[in-house]
Amino acid sequence: MQRSYMFAGAFVVLFVGIIVIVVVCVSSMNGWKEHNADGPKFWEQGGVYQVYPRSFGDSDGDGTGDLMGVVAHSDHLKDLGVVTVWLSPIFKSPMKDFGYDISNYMAIDPIFGTMDDFERLVASLHRNGLKVVLDFVPNHSSNLHEWFTKSEAREGNYTDYYVWAEAKDYDKNNTPIPPNNWMSEFGGSAWEWSGIRGQFYYHQFLAEQPDLNYRNEHVKEEMKNVLRFWLDKGVDGFRVDAVKYLVEAQDLNLDEPTDSDNPELLHHIFTTNQPETFQILREWRELVDKYHEKVLMVEVYSEVEDVMKYYGNQSVPLAHFPFNFFMLEALNNRSTLNGYALKDTISLWLDYMPEGKWPNWVLGNHDNGRVASRLGKDMVDALNMVVLLLPGTPVTYNGEEIGMENTFISWEDTRDPEGCRWGPDHYQEHSRDPERTPMQWNDGHMAGFTNGNNTWLPINANYQEINVAAQKNATHSHLKFYQHVTEIRQEETFKRGKVTFPTYDDSTFSFIRSLEGHPSYLAVVNVATVNRTVNLHLGANFQLPDKAEMVIHSSTSVAKETPSGSTVFLDSLTLVAGEGVLLKLPED
Ligand code: NOJ
Ligand code: MG
Repeated sequence: MQRSYMFAGAFVVLFVGIIVIVVVCVSSMNGWKEHNADGPKFWEQGGVYQVYPRSFGDSDGDGTGDLMGVVAHSDHLKDLGVVTVWLSPIFKSPMKDFGYDISNYMAIDPIFGTMDDFERLVASLHRNGLKVVLDFVPNHSSNLHEWFTKSEAREGNYTDYYVWAEAKDYDKNNTPIPPNNWMSEFGGSAWEWSGIRGQFYYHQFLAEQPDLNYRNEHVKEEMKNVLRFWLDKGVDGFRVDAVKYLVEAQDLNLDEPTDSDNPELLHHIFTTNQPETFQILREWRELVDKYHEKVLMVEVYSEVEDVMKYYGNQSVPLAHFPFNFFMLEALNNRSTLNGYALKDTISLWLDYMPEGKWPNWVLGNHDNGRVASRLGKDMVDALNMVVLLLPGTPVTYNGEEIGMENTFISWEDTRDPEGCRWGPDHYQEHSRDPERTPMQWNDGHMAGFTNGNNTWLPINANYQEINVAAQKNATHSHLKFYQHVTEIRQEETFKRGKVTFPTYDDSTFSFIRSLEGHPSYLAVVNVATVNRTVNLHLGANFQLPDKAEMVIHSSTSVAKETPSGSTVFLDSLTLVAGEGVLLKLPED
């Protein structure tokens, strides 16, 4: 009797085991696409749109954008078809790094408005069905934050809120020597002497941005309170700034090794991606998970293996996604843009991404030049199409939907500290001002950005041609194309379908999205700077049909003979320079 029970028991265990193995295999075949038992989360349903509040809309005429200026343009946000609006920092700040230096994490800077304005903004975006994500800047505060002033004065618990160190020595002029060779991301030593305290403090960015000390429990608690404060106000998540710098090695006497080829370069083994950083991120994830459906997207520029660690794994999830900056980095200018490069950079993310995680694609942001200027005006639509139609969350920086271009900024007008510190001869290689100029709404006074007569950065002279109103009125425009593609993205194929890459070479890039029981789509991009007739069968990785149906083509296209719905032949597809087209494949 006993024995037959044991036998039956073993059989049940074996049976359950097989079921588990089959389920795991099937779900891993589906990869990123079916990992949520309870349906897609909001960030999986559509794009993230980054608003740089200083430059989006100015409601009070002072020349700097503000929260009510975002409210005034919420129709635009809604019409774009994105799901999430991420606001770059809006908190109280001396603006040395334009809001990435925060002096009060729980207050709105008056330049942007009031807490009431903030609540109005959240209500207005939510009413329009949009989610609101705030920029969380935990690595450093402003040096004018009261925590820093108190820390500098060694006041009670605040004493260790920042990373303080004794001078290693004093030189012959009695000038203190920093404890180690660590460098600031913005150049120069990462250590600043405080005469008040008689010690150095560490700053990964500007001296006005001292790094908080995450080995201190009070600091960890303060930052959790910040997260709770905004979550309780109803925000839908956070973009976490500069997270790889959160924790530094405990031993501040350690020098970072220099690069053998370039002694100016350090290998940041003591200042980035430290094990404790992941522990802190885990605590933040647990905190946001106590609320309903909140997102954590983290900013990490690093090697792919390190970036992927920020996803965590199935049992210990960390960020919902670290931003994928590899497209930005790999496709830095037109000479590096070819079909292979696009295929490789896309595969890089998909191949390295841990099981069950969700991809994302970033083409631009407030720290990098405009797509039209880096890669060519002709490529704007095609690249928007690629990021909008790949599996994962597309991230669009404000103005990219109308193909805004970098603005020339004179030395006198330069505001970005990263530009200023390089001086008049070299600021242009470093300044981030060109991609931060005011949003171009129309061809009227100040491009419709402000009623005032000045703006914090000059408006691009091309606003009369490149603006939202003109593109709304045109039959074909970047904006119309963007909106059309976000609509198409709602099809099941794009939500859940797999991706394959049939043909790519120096001048052509293509991918197919397909899902059983639903139409398949083929996206094709001519990355060349000349018009071409492409034979997609040539060098294809698998058999393609002879013909397909045109769904949409770049607004730059002159191929009026191939309007939407017309038939095109895949052995002779005519594309203008930089053109992207989306084709529907015949059902077989
Ligand atoms: C990344 C932000 O995107 C950038 O604008 C800022 O200067 C640094 N982090 C420092 O906060
Ligand atoms: Mg740090």
